[in-house]
Amino acid sequence: MTKLNIVILAAGKGTRMYSEKPKVLHALAGKPLVQHVLDCASALKPQQICVVYGHGGEAVPNAMQQYAAKFVVQEPQLGTGHAVQQAMPHLSDDGDTLVLYGDVPLIQHSTLHQMQQVGGGLVLLTVNLSNPTGYGRIVRNDQGDVQCIVEEKDATPEQREINEVNTGILLAPTQMLRGWLSKLRNNNSQREYYLTDIVGMAVQQGVAVHTVQPAHEWEIHGINSKAQLTVLERTWQLVEAGRLLVHGVTLADAARIDVRGKLSCGCDVEIDVGCIFEGEVSLGNNVRVGAYCVIKNSRIAADTDIAPYSHIDSCEVGANCHIGPYARLRPGTKLHDKVHIGNFVEIKNSEIAADSKANHLSYIGDSTVGKRVNIGAGTITCNYDGANKHRTIIEDDVFIGSDTQLVAPVTVGKGATIGAGSTITRNAPEDELTLSRGRQLTVAGWKRPIKKK
Ligand code: UD1
Ligand code: CA
Repeated sequence: MTKLNIVILAAGKGTRMYSEKPKVLHALAGKPLVQHVLDCASALKPQQICVVYGHGGEAVPNAMQQYAAKFVVQEPQLGTGHAVQQAMPHLSDDGDTLVLYGDVPLIQHSTLHQMQQVGGGLVLLTVNLSNPTGYGRIVRNDQGDVQCIVEEKDATPEQREINEVNTGILLAPTQMLRGWLSKLRNNNSQREYYLTDIVGMAVQQGVAVHTVQPAHEWEIHGINSKAQLTVLERTWQLVEAGRLLVHGVTLADAARIDVRGKLSCGCDVEIDVGCIFEGEVSLGNNVRVGAYCVIKNSRIAADTDIAPYSHIDSCEVGANCHIGPYARLRPGTKLHDKVHIGNFVEIKNSEIAADSKANHLSYIGDSTVGKRVNIGAGTITCNYDGANKHRTIIEDDVFIGSDTQLVAPVTVGKGATIGAGSTITRNAPEDELTLSRGRQLTVAGWKRPIKKK
């Protein structure tokens, strides 16, 4: 395939967002608008990506510095043609240049690929809208050949009747594009250099002008306001939900799930309402996720049940586990198979081996827990001395009585039992009962104080 340059226009102010943040840094599905476009652009493996930015100082280049793109400032902003001109010095002449928009986040790889395959001249991405208001119109002759694009503000009443509109996305041979851009004039109603004027020039030179239409209208929707952003977010979430349903996932309500990243599911997965999946999440066969769970960058193995209101971030959860309701698994947690983590239990940076349980009100941090361990209600690992973190080791078959504090570094030996209410500061030996607490006593004849008059 011919070599490709990609120019992403992102200099617009976004006045209607009413935000200090540049428009293209607002997020859709948890990711900045321009990042969606950069990801799609990168997937086309171009020789150069050039992002034209304007408002918000260096915010856009700083936020996107992980991309091998050239960031070029456009100041002042004199129109879409002027914007593309800013990129041209950074593009080599061989091959084609594709123009994308930082505020049109959902353009799909397949559509752009289709434009590339047409090639051989100018390729416009157009769409037929029942209400074309606000868009540039595609003017064709009697043979159906594209003649030019006319902006709404410059259009005659007859031209405004045209339903086929310019999405703005186009592909042009780079060398020709350079020539056309150098000839742009701003003699129009907005005193702007219109990128769209290159179409008329191509026609005059006898260069073929092709059109391609996207598979979905949402691919070309641009964002100018928070209202449009939330509409497109919901549209996208329904697309994601539709994808899951096609793969056999059971969703309690396709309109009440949010996927902000990539969610992969095995067979017979069930997801209740209000769940949020962030980053890369995978759910094994028969996993059930209860209502209002938030799961981020985690892997959950088969047959595990996650009860409502649980939060799981950067964890690995084994098969046949029971998590929640109201469990919080923090980064670095690894649960082996058949582990039970109950309500109001927080686990951080800990590994818990198979068949162990912490069912109520506990904090387990920086710990290594063996097999078949029972951690009683209210157990706390005191992992932090105010300066450093220390590990707690709980070996196989340990029973920790309720309301125990384990002051790390400390090891509880295999098979040991810790009496309820203990504060354990030294290692507890294997197979023995260890406890640390005052003896219970009854003070005979003691009376409660009485309020003085
Ligand atoms: C443009 C098209 C119009 C098309 C519409 C689709 C032109 C002249 N018109 O119109 O045919 O139907 O998009 O939405 O191209 N931008 C810059 N620098 C500038 C001006 C714009 O980077 O100087 C960026 C904006 O950030 C935005 C995009 O280009 O992402 C489109 O600009 P906008 O002003 O919205 O163009 P429209 O008038 O809507
Ligand atoms: Ca626009």
